[in-house]
Amino acid sequence: MNLSDEALTLLRANRRTTRDGHQYTVPSPSVYPYQWLWDSCFHAIVLAKLEPEAAMAELRSLLSRQLPDGMLPHMIFWKPKLTRPYHVWWEKGVSSITQPPLIAYAAWEIYQATKEESFLREIFPGMLAFYRYLIDMRDPHDHHLISIINPDESGEDNSPRFDIAMRVKSNISFFAHMYKRHQLVTANRVCGFDPLTCMHERFWVKDVPFNAILVKSLERLADIARLLGDRDAERFATQHRELISFTMREYLMAEGVFWSAIGLEHGHLKVATWAHFAPLFAGLYTPAEAEALVRTHFTNTDTFRSPFGIRTVSKQEPSYRANGFWRGPIWFAPHWFIYKGLVDYGFMDEARWLRDASTTLIHRHGFREYFNPESGKAYGAHNFTWGTLALDMLTP
Ligand code: GLC
Repeated sequence: MNLSDEALTLLRANRRTTRDGHQYTVPSPSVYPYQWLWDSCFHAIVLAKLEPEAAMAELRSLLSRQLPDGMLPHMIFWKPKLTRPYHVWWEKGVSSITQPPLIAYAAWEIYQATKEESFLREIFPGMLAFYRYLIDMRDPHDHHLISIINPDESGEDNSPRFDIAMRVKSNISFFAHMYKRHQLVTANRVCGFDPLTCMHERFWVKDVPFNAILVKSLERLADIARLLGDRDAERFATQHRELISFTMREYLMAEGVFWSAIGLEHGHLKVATWAHFAPLFAGLYTPAEAEALVRTHFTNTDTFRSPFGIRTVSKQEPSYRANGFWRGPIWFAPHWFIYKGLVDYGFMDEARWLRDASTTLIHRHGFREYFNPESGKAYGAHNFTWGTLALDMLTP
């Protein structure tokens, strides 16, 4: 079987239909048996060209459980009974936090493949409400930087980028970290998950990949609004894309790269992670800065480049662990974001290297969750869908 057939076979095998007719894809049947927000966007991006109806269904099911304030939950459980440790997140059938806002990007990919304007028209109000929620509720002081209230909202659960904000040591174990995050959920339950209170009291991070993904997706939201003739929404999306882009450069940049920041004063969280590369996806570096970034870090074997792909954390960091979940290993989603950015900036050789590194891992190990950058060893969930993103890396 070729990669495309293997990917489609996996996505079909992981597809689920609910009693009320919603369809979604589980990231991995054994380890991740529910629906996740950014995972569903990845699935929709890959399925857009292969099975656009299934791609549309993935986004519809996400929007079907949107909260009244516009937030899209990071998990939809779809089942009354949960496996541990997911019970911690349970809040009336969905989780109480969100995940990176890639949905408008995914919707645009579906439109590019199908040219079905009616689908965009159908899901546009829900998408717009989600972006309005982020801008209204997650930026209460009008800093033009969107905040997350839990590391899991970044999609990089135990990344050392959040160690200072989580008040944990860099050598913390996987389970101790998970316990800390669960305590945070419980604490935020007390403040009713009200972003402003939760941020001030517990965890308040202006995260680089989250904001970069938002900037790119607002660009797509503006494209969609323009197509649908919604001038106000187009203005909203364009204006906030520009404001956030400007502010990210102004407040999150130092030493030629972007750093996530904490609290009211935007204190930089100086841990070198793949977040340095994420702004390539949103076009936030100038061409000269991007060139310097690629030379200093992408091709640098002492920091990010490993024989098997790009490390999620620089090897120079004391928190770096080659087998440490989000504390160093290679993951396919960061590979995909970086690949897209490299292509946009014209770094074709580097993009091809990243694509080949990704497909080699899949050929050797199948669709596994994450990989040791030093040995190439595969870890975590089997039949994990993120590897299918490699299909969207085949045509530079
Ligand atoms: C892990 C990942 C997260 C993902 C989830 C489901 O928790 O860290 O990003 O959404 O699995 O695949």
